[in-house]
Amino acid sequence: MLAQEPSPSRETAAARRPLPPGTDVDGRGHLIDGGCDVTDLARRYGTPLYVFNETVLRANCRAYRDAFAAYAPGAMVAYAAKACLTRAIAAVVAAEGLHIDVVSGGELHVALSAGFPAERVVFHGNNKTAAEITQALDAGIGRFVVDNLDEMDRLAEAATRRGLRQRVLLRVAPGIEAHTHEYIQTGSQDSKFGFDLESGQALRAAQRCAATGGLRLVGLHAHIGSQLLDTRAVPPLVERMLDLARAVESACGVRLGELNLGGGAGIRYVDEEALAPRTLAAALTAAVAAGCARRGMEPPVLAVEPGRSVVGEAGIALYTVGSRKRVPGLVPYVAVDGGMGDNIRPALYGAAYTVVAAGRMHEPCAQQVHVVGRYCESGDFLARDAMLPAPEVGDLLAFYAAGAYQVPMASNYNLVPRPCLLLVANGRADVMVERETYADLCARDRLPERLLARPAAAAAGMGSLGSAG
Ligand code: LLP
Repeated sequence: MLAQEPSPSRETAAARRPLPPGTDVDGRGHLIDGGCDVTDLARRYGTPLYVFNETVLRANCRAYRDAFAAYAPGAMVAYAAKACLTRAIAAVVAAEGLHIDVVSGGELHVALSAGFPAERVVFHGNNKTAAEITQALDAGIGRFVVDNLDEMDRLAEAATRRGLRQRVLLRVAPGIEAHTHEYIQTGSQDSKFGFDLESGQALRAAQRCAATGGLRLVGLHAHIGSQLLDTRAVPPLVERMLDLARAVESACGVRLGELNLGGGAGIRYVDEEALAPRTLAAALTAAVAAGCARRGMEPPVLAVEPGRSVVGEAGIALYTVGSRKRVPGLVPYVAVDGGMGDNIRPALYGAAYTVVAAGRMHEPCAQQVHVVGRYCESGDFLARDAMLPAPEVGDLLAFYAAGAYQVPMASNYNLVPRPCLLLVANGRADVMVERETYADLCARDRLPERLLARPAAAAAGMGSLGSAG
């Protein structure tokens, strides 16, 4: 068995299948994305460069839409904008008929300014400010997911002032541990999100919500975690949520027509098998149908909020090798022109990626290396123990599945400008977000007049300070 496996030293990146969706390798061993040679894109736009494939993005939206249309007609699929939002992405998601889940005034602003229909916006977050609530109510968004009583009061007051009855869902912490990294588990009892189910907090919150002017309680929401690769958690989650829905309905006399079960479908970073929209839709609808039948309830309209599984595999990140370091007996380091500033995930979660030499896809991956970033921090690594053709300065490295939670979590650490984002399709590349410039880095920086360098005056100032002291 082992003997038949290709030796890692002979395997080429082109032979590692599957390639990311929407990509291919040409005869020269160049990675092609959306019909564009990524080595040309890197030359033209510089690196680090994020390339998003529009065809894949659209296909992922449609896969969700079609899966839920088949299993749960009327279901709402909301793209979780936190995974990555630009105006172009918002426009594509809107055109594909999805809803959108936003968690800040900033995400709301970007979505609306791309023409996203306000009634298809769901507003999340555990500390929405009064200003954000005002912004969202003024825009006429479809739904708020209320996370806590402080927010409920703020929202009710603002909606009442406007003479509105705002549609709301309650965020519930259902006490389910998802099988994923601790930092991206969100459904357990000891979580900062939502009303605790176990202690009766969620039921009491629903009663209060149903009795509060300005609010119309239409459903319940839970999101238990991210990068989930199976549907093990679905049946217990649905059971708990249906029990709560029934308790709310009998205690408050309102019918909860909507059940939003969040996002979380996992994708392939290395060799994982992605959780397909169809598998998720089938599991959710089967659990809801069975649970409702047992309780004699009418099934609610389902909603889901995928982020990573819509945009993750649609993106790749490109970097240029700038320097190498070899210590005898140890795995060599290869440093690229990006790192934790544009991708904090390896440092934060120990996330693993597939990395290839995008211009040498037909060469054997014979060299084991650590790919590190350019930032002043030892934890700034991008891939440990990657297998690449012996890297040369100037090589272009591509990280697969880079579309989700990288750019949105990017920082200006070390004052390195943030990368350029492209949208590619059918051999065409468009800039979605320009590379940050040094001028951008100074755009909000204010140098007080009195600190402006004026050598003579500065010297005089020093003198007078000195004599005053
Ligand atoms: N809905 C809610 C309420 C959420 O909190 C999230 C993600 C989603 C939907 C979308 O989940 P997705 O389908 O993308 O898994 N920064 C982390 C992921 C944090 C996820 C936060 N919430 C990472 O890089 O893995």
